[in-house]
Amino acid sequence: MAGSAPLSGPSGGVALVASGSARAEQQISNDQLGERVETNDEWIRTRTGIQTRRICGPGQTLSSLSAEAGRQAIAMAGWEADSLDLVLLATSTPDDLFGSAPKVQALLGARQAVAFDLTAACSGFLFALITASQFLRTGAMRRVLVIGADQLSSWVDWDDRRSCVLFGDGAGALALEACPNESNGLLGFQMRTDGSRGECLNLPQTAQRSPLVGETSHQQGHYDPIRMNGQEVYKFAVREVPAILKTLLTETATSADQIDWLLLHQANQRILDAVADRFAIPHSQVLSNLANYGNTSASTIPLMLDEAVRDGRIQPGHRIASSGFGAGLSWGAALLRWQGPS
Ligand code: UT7
Repeated sequence: MAGSAPLSGPSGGVALVASGSARAEQQISNDQLGERVETNDEWIRTRTGIQTRRICGPGQTLSSLSAEAGRQAIAMAGWEADSLDLVLLATSTPDDLFGSAPKVQALLGARQAVAFDLTAACSGFLFALITASQFLRTGAMRRVLVIGADQLSSWVDWDDRRSCVLFGDGAGALALEACPNESNGLLGFQMRTDGSRGECLNLPQTAQRSPLVGETSHQQGHYDPIRMNGQEVYKFAVREVPAILKTLLTETATSADQIDWLLLHQANQRILDAVADRFAIPHSQVLSNLANYGNTSASTIPLMLDEAVRDGRIQPGHRIASSGFGAGLSWGAALLRWQGPS
């Protein structure tokens, strides 16, 4: 388990400067999914809040979506791509198992940036944001691009109605810059993992052993589609997300009414509502675009953030309480203050 006191002391701050996002080309409504599996709009809408989801078209890849989101964030920040020190890509669905961040770095022309992937499923974006911030706080780096992107449509069992109705593809990005402590925008964070409950939601490799030479064998498996125990994940979310947010608020001496926006991983509208109710946060302050995209895993938080920045809901100085949760099981929370481009 890991957490932090509010950033202060000798380390510097982290400014949340700009955002970007990218949408997958193809849209599939609940009714259309009903042509594939035995489901219907009413069930999906009332149980999840999802109305439609987007999945990558033939010309789109995880890397191209990520690069598009990153390009938008760099443009909003007014930066040159080669001024980036790090491209950190949170994804569990890379185009290349060795990592997609290097491809994204090349697509962006971020020649000076080191680039690598971070895998933590639906918690991935928050974990990456917190990880990248450490380089900025210590002064090791000045400008960082954090991208959350997933292409779950490649890994969903499209014949399993219990899971396929939930997921979609997408990407979002956040540009972060080292700044003096007074402008710090990462006010506190918490991170958790419980691997003992990992089987509630996973995408496991099925290992097959084959003879190699003599007595020696080797393993060469394949990955099965997503497996999910929906009820267990739901119970986990409505128990752990309020708990971690409560710890975060206590550690940062913040009351719920000092929060401008609640920005949760977009998994199920019922989870969003339940968490908001626990803190008596009005539903008008709960950011939700679940109806349009479904659960896009590591991308939900930055995709939602970018929409709310661009339509003017999130304003400079606003405080955002965010929480990501999902496979691992993993979960985390961060209290953010939006700065925007200067
Ligand atoms: O990033 C984290 C990712 N995962 C999650 O966030 C998932 C969290 N869990 C959930 O959101 C909910 O558990 C679900 C939306 C997945 C399911 O909702 P539920 O209220 O827990 O439904 P259930 O699994 O208890 O199923 C109720 C009924 C079952 O039928 P019976 O056994 O009562 O006859 C299911 O077979 O609904 C049936 N069902 C469906 N019916 C129509 C399950 N999926 C569907 C479907 N369409 N797509």
